[in-house]
Amino acid sequence: PREMGWAIPDLYLFQQFWCPSILIKEVNIFQKQFQAKDSDIFVASFPKSGTTWLKAITFAIVNRQCFSSIHNHPLLTSNPHQLVPAVEFMYRGDIHCPTTEPRVFGTHTPFPSLPNSIIESKCKIIYICRNPFDIFVSAWTFFDKIKLEPLSTLKIEEAFEKYCNGIIEFGPWWSHMQGYWKESLAKPNKVLFLKYEDLKEDVNFQVKKIADFLGFPFTQEEENNEVIESIIKLCSFEKMKNSEVNKSGIIYQFLEKKYFFRKGETRDWVNYFSPSMTEKLCKIMEEKFGGSGLSFMI
Ligand code: A3P
Repeated sequence: PREMGWAIPDLYLFQQFWCPSILIKEVNIFQKQFQAKDSDIFVASFPKSGTTWLKAITFAIVNRQCFSSIHNHPLLTSNPHQLVPAVEFMYRGDIHCPTTEPRVFGTHTPFPSLPNSIIESKCKIIYICRNPFDIFVSAWTFFDKIKLEPLSTLKIEEAFEKYCNGIIEFGPWWSHMQGYWKESLAKPNKVLFLKYEDLKEDVNFQVKKIADFLGFPFTQEEENNEVIESIIKLCSFEKMKNSEVNKSGIIYQFLEKKYFFRKGETRDWVNYFSPSMTEKLCKIMEEKFGGSGLSFMI
């Protein structure tokens, strides 16, 4: 089956997810050729769930020796998507493989389609999940900016209809979330499941949790020296959005750096949803997530 995407002219139902046509070959190569190292780290997400933020935080945690020279930190001179490349785009040749270890990668590939070497190695996966209401608004505004020819503007009602049917780049969003959620329950040392809303609520606690999970816990001395606070500040929405490095320039072929920073808030959906849209999405979430233990603050 083939559908029109939100930003990409063709989506194909490939291994049970809506894969952008421009990435099918790359996802195939990734599956067949990627050799994971035990020290590798994957930041996995459904698009528009907070990937950029988690990439920055993860990179800052595992490379925090750079903080000895805070003014030269790589996050001040490179966008998080350059430091932590999305593997799918790496195979397009848009961006290079990290050269230092631990290698940190991003991926939007659903859990069942990850290469065996990731599943079998001791590498770690951190998944960031976001309330489906806010994902919708973030995706609708974002995909409209990056859309490729010959796509025209998708009206919010049309986009919502597609979203409710799971038709969106890397969708359906419910199976994407469920795949990583189930794995995080089965293998908590392998997959850490985080929520954007929890990061917004208490980023300090979540940063410590991520560091512990990755095997890079903060020492007492680091805590006394406010290293955690420095990381949080470096990765904050205000700092990243206003940083010169993110204001212009291209990351992957058609993606401008500035598009990754819009509002950075929870519950912006209330400004876009009608009562009938709210009712419909609540019902879908009940159907898709009921009994799974996965719940959302909306
Ligand atoms: P909004 O569109 O709601 O503002 P992704 O990185 O997966 O593409 O997700 C993008 C969303 O994360 C956007 O949400 C963006 O503004 C938000 N975001 C990016 N950097 C952030 C940060 N440092 N802190 C909080 N939110 C951030």
